[in-house]
Amino acid sequence: MCGIVGYVGDKQAAEFLLEGLSKLEYRGYDSAGIAVYDGNRIRVEKSVGRLAALRDKIKDDMPQGTMGIGHTRWATHGRPSDRNAHPHTDCSGDFVVVHNGIIENYLALKEELIEKGHVFKSETDTEVVAHLIEEVYNGDFVSSVREVLHRIEGSYSLVFMCRKHPGELICTKQDNPLVIGIGEGENFIASDIPAIIARTRRTYILNDGELAVVTKDSIKITNRRGEPVTKKVFEVNWNAEAAEKGGYEHFMLKEINEQPKAVRDTMSQRIAKDGKSIVMNELKWDADYLNSFNKIYIVACGTAYHAGLVGKFYIEKLARTVVEVDVASEFRYRDPIVDENTLFIAVSQSGETSDTLAAMKESKRLGAKTLALTNVVGSSIAREADQVLYTWAGPEIAVASTKAYTTQLILFFMLALYMAQIKKTQTPERIEELIAKLKNVPAQVSETLSDVEPIKTFAKQYGFNEDVFYIGRSLDYDVALEGALKLKEVSYIHAEAYAAGELKHGTLALIVEGVPVIALATQKSVYEKTLSNIKEVKARDAVVIGIAAEGDTELEKYVDHVMKVPETDELLIPILTVVPLQLLAYYAAITRGCDVDKPRNLAKSVTVE
Ligand code: F6R
Repeated sequence: MCGIVGYVGDKQAAEFLLEGLSKLEYRGYDSAGIAVYDGNRIRVEKSVGRLAALRDKIKDDMPQGTMGIGHTRWATHGRPSDRNAHPHTDCSGDFVVVHNGIIENYLALKEELIEKGHVFKSETDTEVVAHLIEEVYNGDFVSSVREVLHRIEGSYSLVFMCRKHPGELICTKQDNPLVIGIGEGENFIASDIPAIIARTRRTYILNDGELAVVTKDSIKITNRRGEPVTKKVFEVNWNAEAAEKGGYEHFMLKEINEQPKAVRDTMSQRIAKDGKSIVMNELKWDADYLNSFNKIYIVACGTAYHAGLVGKFYIEKLARTVVEVDVASEFRYRDPIVDENTLFIAVSQSGETSDTLAAMKESKRLGAKTLALTNVVGSSIAREADQVLYTWAGPEIAVASTKAYTTQLILFFMLALYMAQIKKTQTPERIEELIAKLKNVPAQVSETLSDVEPIKTFAKQYGFNEDVFYIGRSLDYDVALEGALKLKEVSYIHAEAYAAGELKHGTLALIVEGVPVIALATQKSVYEKTLSNIKEVKARDAVVIGIAAEGDTELEKYVDHVMKVPETDELLIPILTVVPLQLLAYYAAITRGCDVDKPRNLAKSVTVE
């Protein structure tokens, strides 16, 4: 996720570009840059770090000109640096591009362009777009951009500026947002409404495949086939704060709703074109490398630890390799048995959690090979690890982690499949079947998100209870742990998750009339056993909310309410069942009037031990 802006009009472009970018920093703040055209030359200024660093750099010498583009970056390909900051230019400096998204085939394009003599300055996927337009340019700006769009694969919103076409910006999008602000004698382009709301409330929201040629007096929009599109003006009536949250009341809800895209982005580049195998260009492991390990540790904190529990299940089930999972603050001090035959996997959204970082450093010192699963390029954990797999979830702002968790699960699932491929612990047919199911997950997450009304009702009904219990077996238990943590941290309700079979060893004593119990029952091999445990709590007059897969007609006979998620392989179902639990926590917090995005006593990144 990045933020992009564009301006064409009569005023100084740099003013709007900086103002617009300041409203988009929530989309990323690894670096910022602007390019301004003065009718003669394009001046590009960029700087690593937050926008303030760029402002500081140019404050006494603002680029002059009435057309320009800008970018605030959330690094995906290439660490945060001046060189990797956008805008990116071609060899001649005539073409300038800003991009939000991922160009999936950038490596192949880059090799082709290098062979043709293009010299690259950055490690980004975006730079290929600037060189590609230089390569295919035929004197016509629009048709050259279209040619580029035919060649690139992936997700993008893009703005192009060219020295040979003064007064004209071209923008387009696929799977990433782009809005055009309609002004008078000036027009604006941005990733999101907050960037333009102070200048205009009249906008066009671009759809996938649409391309707009924007001048100071006109906006011409065409579809993929080049036919004109007549769009309705969308009048924005949100205030600036709501606009930053994409119209959602809280970042947590926005991020819950971003999960289909986050999940799709995390998986898309890692599935082979024929859908038969997993591609992990970041790892390039082979059987010898994997066989050199006699132990894998997954170490993390909080939600990331819960993702690690699911990761252990995936790796053991699919790749038949023993995995131990530990919370980082315990692992560090328990004198763990780590040596050069150990693979240490750290999981961390922020990449800055000090316990996880310290555990990794210690394991490295003892000779382990280290792998980080993180969401933040260039973070301390990413830099410390021997190898890194990124979740491409985009910035997570709410303190309660949601989209980071689901993307961590996706990444663990793919890592386990990748290991299974190498170790040949699953047949090619089974791998292909699981990949096919994996590809359906983003749409299934969307489907799960579309049914919130019953969840709101439960939250109102049970939001004032003192205690809530979550039960499940196998993977359902791992998800129950995450559901309980979500409820605790945002609604301050005391919630505990139990392996359903453990209840009778003590906790059943707490189950009395009216206590809500959320029971997950999606795992076939333990389904009957889970049903027995549900009956045990029902017999003590608990109120049971069951969570099951779509085709299940049994569970509803034994529980008070049931929530269903789409059917998929039971390995993948945690990515779906966690969604209603996140929503339940969110709406319970709303019912109780809690500060959802900033729960008391908590911080987003825990850099103390
Ligand atoms: C809970 C939550 C925390 C984090 C934990 C680790 O919603 O967000 O439990 O998961 O503090 O943080 P990272 O993943 O940044 O290492």
